[in-house]
Parts: sequence; C-alpha cells; structure tokens
Amino acid sequence: MQIAVITGGSSGIGQSAAFELAKRGTAVVVTYRGGRDRALETVERIEKDGGTAVALPLDVSRPDTFGEFRAALTGVLENWGRTSFDFLVSNAGVGQPPVMFEDTTEDLFDQMIAVHLKGPYFLTQTLLPLLADNGSIVYTTSTSALPTARPTPGYSVYASVKGAQIVLTRYLAKELSARGIRVNAVAPGVTRTRLGDDAFAQHPELIPPIAGRTALGRIGEPDDLGTVIAFLGSPDAGWITAQTVEASGGYEL
Ligand SMILES: NC(=O)c1ccc[n+]([C@@H]2O[C@H](COP(=O)([O-])OP(=O)(O)OC[C@H]3O[C@@H](n4cnc5c(N)ncnc54)[C@H](OP(=O)(O)O)[C@@H]3O)[C@@H](O)[C@H]2O)c1
Repeated sequence: MQIAVITGGSSGIGQSAAFELAKRGTAVVVTYRGGRDRALETVERIEKDGGTAVALPLDVSRPDTFGEFRAALTGVLENWGRTSFDFLVSNAGVGQPPVMFEDTTEDLFDQMIAVHLKGPYFLTQTLLPLLADNGSIVYTTSTSALPTARPTPGYSVYASVKGAQIVLTRYLAKELSARGIRVNAVAPGVTRTRLGDDAFAQHPELIPPIAGRTALGRIGEPDDLGTVIAFLGSPDAGWITAQTVEASGGYEL
C-alpha cells in the first residue's frame, strides 16, 4: 500500500489531492491547522468509499513542533505496518491580502516566509528519513511565481515565496535523485478554494473577470489540481522530476 502525507489536506487543493490519491488506493495522512472538522470529514468520506486515511494536526509555520509531528506520523505508519511513506504533498498555504511593496510589513513578510518557505523546507528535512527511496515530493506553488506571469501589484511577498518553492524544487530534485526521489511542483492558477478567507464565496463577483482572462473560460476547481498532484506522485510520472507543472486552464495566455 502506497502512503501519502498531504499538508493542508483539510480544504481545497490538498483535500482534493487526498480524495484523488485515496481513489487510486493510496492511504493518506491529511494535516490540518484550524480545520479539524473538515479534516475529519475528509477522513470519513475516504473511509466511506473504502479507503484508508488519518488526520493529524500540524502548523507548518512552527518548525519547533515538527519533531512531535514526525513522532505522530511514525505511530500512524506503524499502525499501517510501515516504517516509511511514499509521497509528500507540501501544499499548506495562506493567501496574502493585497499590499503594495511600500506598505509591506515585516510581520506579513515573516508570516509568508514561515508558511511557504521555512516551514516546507524544514518539514521536508524532518520527514526525509521517513520518505521511502524512489518516493516523491510535490510542492504547491503558484502561477504568480512563473517567469511567464504578468505581475499583479500587491502580491510581491506571496509571489516571491512561491518562487522560492520552484527553486527549492529544482535543488531538491538534484540532491534527492541519489535516492531515486522525484521532486516536482504544481502551479495552480486561480482556483475556487477557501484561500483568502473564502474570497470567492464571499465575493462571487470576482469570478467572471478572472474567468475572462483564462483561456478555458472559467476559474479552476480543486479537482483540476488534485488530479495533477495525484498523477505527479504516481508511477505514470516516474520520469518527471525538477518540473513545475502549470495547471491554470491557460491563465493570461
Ligand atoms: N486557490 C488558489 O487560487 C491558489 C492559487 C495558487 C496557489 N495556491 C496554493 O495552493 C495551496 C492550497 O491552498 P488552497 O487554495 O487549497 O486554500 P485553502 O482551501 O484555504 O486550503 C489551505 C490549506 O492549508 C492549510 N494551512 C494554512 N495555513 C497553515 C499552517 N500554518 N499550517 C498548516 N496548515 C495550514 C489549511 O488548514 P486549515 O484549514 O485546517 O487551517 C488548509 O488545509 C496553498 O499553498 C496556496 O498558496 C492556491
């Protein structure tokens, strides 16, 4: 049985990745921060469909707690008769309120670094001894960080830390290739999730203009990304490493 660990599996893209992986027979550990109920619902739905899942709490901005998380994960793996897992989906993230460069505070900067760079970096390092040889890692970055992106004023911190994930993907792909571990990133375009305090539910008027700038004429849904993440972790993607796969329906093409 393959095992995946998905940070931010209680909502949106991470939750969809959990469902997609479970459908393919992978046992999943979903992590949550504030959304315990949604994480438990995710587990319940997977189990109802005959899959295997567990939810664990994790704040990716708190490297001081990563040892405790690794111990909890080790316990789950033991229950499943394993000492390792196969696929790390480093997906947890938060949106940034639009703030122009001149007004960006150190607090916002530090929060973005903690959740999107320092946290994923040291969480990957902490979990690496548990990741099986020939396993894989996927980071959820953003189209805002791609060289082809048309920069939107107000998002310099978010885009910068997401860009750092793309660089990290390439460097880890090189270093971890010695163990056969593949490392990739997925870059979602605008996707209907709870990001930004559930922005699209609160402001549906934001959707049509974004859909109008998207070649395929709509915004993304979580499953548009969950399927790509599941693919990148599967043997079908066994020759793909060091790549950032844009999945945006042709945003600003
Ligand atoms: N939606 C988009 O348009 C879009 C576009 C590009 C990239 N992305 C990226 O996609 C990833 C997933 O976001 P989403 O769109 O699916 O948003 P979402 O629905 O808000 O889900 C975010 C997930 O991250 C978790 N999370 C947030 N802060 C955390 C922390 N400090 N520690 C641990 N977990 C934390 C949340 O957990 P709780 O709910 O349990 O607190 C939740 O499970 C993020 O990295 C985001 O930057 C999204």
